[in-house]
Amino acid sequence: MKLIGPFKQIVTLRNLPLRGKLSDDQLEIMTDGGLLIKEGKIEKVDSFQNLKEQFPNVEIEKIEGVQICLPAFVDSHTHICFGGNRANDFAMRNAGKTYLEIAETGGGIWSSVQHTRSANEEELLKTTLERINFLISLGITTIEIKSGYGLDAENELKMLRVIKKAQTFTKATLVPTCLAAHLKPRDFEGSSQEYLQFILDEILPKVKEENLAKRVDIFIEKSAFLPEESKEFLLKAKELGFEITVHADQFTSGSSRIAVEVGAKSADHLEATIDEDIEFLAQSETVATALPGASLGLGEKFTPARKILDAGGILAIASDWNPGSAPMGNLIAQASILATFEKLSTAEVLAGITFRSAFALSLEDRGTLDKGKKADFVTFKTDNFQNVLYHQGSLKAEAVYIDGEKTA
Ligand code: NIG
Ligand code: FE
Repeated sequence: MKLIGPFKQIVTLRNLPLRGKLSDDQLEIMTDGGLLIKEGKIEKVDSFQNLKEQFPNVEIEKIEGVQICLPAFVDSHTHICFGGNRANDFAMRNAGKTYLEIAETGGGIWSSVQHTRSANEEELLKTTLERINFLISLGITTIEIKSGYGLDAENELKMLRVIKKAQTFTKATLVPTCLAAHLKPRDFEGSSQEYLQFILDEILPKVKEENLAKRVDIFIEKSAFLPEESKEFLLKAKELGFEITVHADQFTSGSSRIAVEVGAKSADHLEATIDEDIEFLAQSETVATALPGASLGLGEKFTPARKILDAGGILAIASDWNPGSAPMGNLIAQASILATFEKLSTAEVLAGITFRSAFALSLEDRGTLDKGKKADFVTFKTDNFQNVLYHQGSLKAEAVYIDGEKTA
């Protein structure tokens, strides 16, 4: 056992509901607190003094100076395994072209597919690990990573193998997701329905066999896959034993309904979700994931996070870090900015990047500081936890702990 502290404040996030709005007076803020760690898990959170008296012989890891402590963050939606760069898309968009226009003229997802296909496993592993380490430096210790820039059996499997390999080089938890249904590749001879069938027949069985991912994602949109074919695909993927997540309602509405109907763990994006569908989503078990990084990268409106919470939904916030729509990768900056536009309480933002996003990944063992939870937490050199969001991502994490051990 080990006692870590004292922290000026520990924000535990325990005892908060999984769904719906939160006010900041619901937050438990332990002043001059300590964390008792046992075998990588939280044993007790209490005042440092109490813990010292109760466990007089325990090893102490002293926190120097004035620091606050939060549960480590969970980024439940990223595409950080990719080759190349789309700075030119970004510049073209800012000069007036739309995301879809750029995609139609050879930029967009397809250009990342070409770069990712031509990268070898070693190169992809190196850049993916660099991005993982950047996320860890922000205090993020659980990272979902999608495939989706391979779009054929060989390259989708290559991406997922790289993610699996990356796991052997990092203590962060990586959660792989198969997004072979990102787009119908231009070199696939057949309809989009046939491509989806190809994924079911040729890619997912191998993903299972090699234990490369337990989750399947699809991009439902006019430019990608249509609602009906997507629903059929998702139901079949579910039958194969995969958990489902969906890129839904990014530009046009309707697909978040499908996510709910197929029992998806999460529906992500939702920038275009209409009020009726917000209600439908909010009453379900499907997590609504806002991706403010994509709104910032594309200059599009934000996900209606306020309405989702007011309707009682489970709101997570993730970075969507990818080379196209969301190149920033700084979840803390993005979540803070979403809060200013959507009027979210600090509690709602913190919940959205911790236990609520962990729930979207079926990882209920983390995201709060409470007995039995994974001892992943982040510290900041400041006397007030509010400063983390107030500085909109520019307050650097002081230390990041995984399983009770300092890693960054
Ligand atoms: O979540 N919307 C579809 N997929 C990604 C973008 C991928 C890309 O532009 O490369 C997203 O925004
Ligand atoms: Fe995405």
